[in-house]
Amino acid sequence: MPVPAAALTCLVRDRTRLGAPPHVPEVRLYLAEEVFGLWEQSGALPYWAFAWAGGLGLARHVLDHPAIVRGRIVLDVASGSGLVAIAAALAGAAQVTASDVDPVAVAAIALNAAANGVAVRVAGDVLDGCGEGAQVVLAGDVFYEAPMAARVRPFLERAAGRGADVLVGDPGRAYLPGTGLTRVAAYRVPVLAVLEDAGTKQVTVWRVGG
Ligand SMILES: C[S@@+](CC[C@H](N)C(=O)[O-])C[C@H]1O[C@@H](n2cnc3c(N)ncnc32)[C@H](O)[C@@H]1O
Repeated sequence: MPVPAAALTCLVRDRTRLGAPPHVPEVRLYLAEEVFGLWEQSGALPYWAFAWAGGLGLARHVLDHPAIVRGRIVLDVASGSGLVAIAAALAGAAQVTASDVDPVAVAAIALNAAANGVAVRVAGDVLDGCGEGAQVVLAGDVFYEAPMAARVRPFLERAAGRGADVLVGDPGRAYLPGTGLTRVAAYRVPVLAVLEDAGTKQVTVWRVGG
């Protein structure tokens, strides 16, 4: 039986603290301060409870270059906490949708959007489409596992193929495609050593296609 949305909202509030993620002080998120208890309780890595390196770099890039999204319709895929979607909304996007398959992420995105005073629509799995309707498609830290990479890469290529601006933020994950990406910028971002085995990560912002 699905867990009621109100219970998921309570879970997010109960297990996190509202604060600014590293490198993106403009945004406030409900973030976990410890990993393993929450991981054990959730039965899966609670992606929504952390700002991942790829998302931190991409959010920084969008906030520093608001023209990328200003007045445009934006889709943030694999949104997690909603970090990149919220950055796009703060940078002046006309409409922002955050896509995630995790119901707890959906609750976290709603809470986080409200904490930042921005409107973010939420969608589930859109990876069989081409991001139809979106003028800008953003993807922070999506190449972390093979099955996800196998779906998200063709999705991003389809979106770019129909003319959307498609940007990826990636800290050198194992399944980042070796071709079809154009380097746009790079940022060194602080990360949680317990998740990443490092204190900082170099994140590259890539454009899908030319
Ligand atoms: C590593 S996290 C990245 C979160 C966020 N973009 C960031 O950088 O902080 C990956 C996210 O992808 C989501 N995800 C996995 N499969 C998905 C799918 N088919 N569609 C949308 N989101 C998906 C997970 O639930 C998780 O929240």
